[in-house]
Amino acid sequence: MTVIVLLGAPGAGKGTQAPILAEHLGIPVLASGDLLRAAVAARTALGRDAERYMNRGQLVPDATIVGVFLDRLDQPDARVGAILDGFPRTRVQAEALDEALVGEGRRVDQAIYIDLPPEDVVARMANRRICTANGHVYNIVSNPPKVAGVCDLDGSELVQRADDREETVRARIAQQMPPLDEVVDHYRRGGILANVDGRQPIDGVTRDVIGAADGSPERA
Ligand code: AP5
Repeated sequence: MTVIVLLGAPGAGKGTQAPILAEHLGIPVLASGDLLRAAVAARTALGRDAERYMNRGQLVPDATIVGVFLDRLDQPDARVGAILDGFPRTRVQAEALDEALVGEGRRVDQAIYIDLPPEDVVARMANRRICTANGHVYNIVSNPPKVAGVCDLDGSELVQRADDREETVRARIAQQMPPLDEVVDHYRRGGILANVDGRQPIDGVTRDVIGAADGSPERA
């Protein structure tokens, strides 16, 4: 039973690494951004509320996301463990997660921070494409699909995300980094933070992320 939190700036590479780590550990990925984008696409009340914040590069309010994400973590497929991609993003979310896990005799075993400077984030986001069926992540420069515009894994069309325009990316960095820094501090103080250099090529980041997960207190 392993709970791993994957942290990083918008575009640091969390969504690229999470499925690779998930396959390595045999546990699911729970991605708050995917959860919210599915709600937006389905035009649910949550999606209509969240969309206003996401399009401006702002965090969705804690009161909106915490209950939804913790409910997802409580589903049967996550009883074996989970990789949390994009949650927690604020100190309030981190404390709510700790409390929910402690109540079930669980805890966060390892937090892994993929560290990437803002200049690199902006460059990568301009070239990011995601698939319309499952959100698989590509980059037309650093990680292109075999056939332009088509997902290698499910054949669906590749598109640019609505919040990947440069001004929105800059807003996301400006507004989301200060609360993320508090979350990083939370896990550093707890002695379970591993720092990974996100400027490396994808396979170098993967090696370090897997090394950190395999060395977590739960698995060591
Ligand atoms: P979310 O979907 O979580 O977005 P994010 O955290 O901003 O992260 P991204 O998905 O943009 O980037 P990533 O780190 O996964 O990078 P990727 O692997 O794609 O959240 C979206 C929005 O939802 C938020 O802005 C917020 O409004 C809301 N939200 C979500 N969770 C919330 C929460 N908990 N609380 C409140 N609001 C919340 O990589 C980026 C690009 O780089 C890709 O093209 C990739 O191919 C490429 N790449 C990756 N690694 C490398 C590498 N090593 N070298 C070269 N290129 C690379």
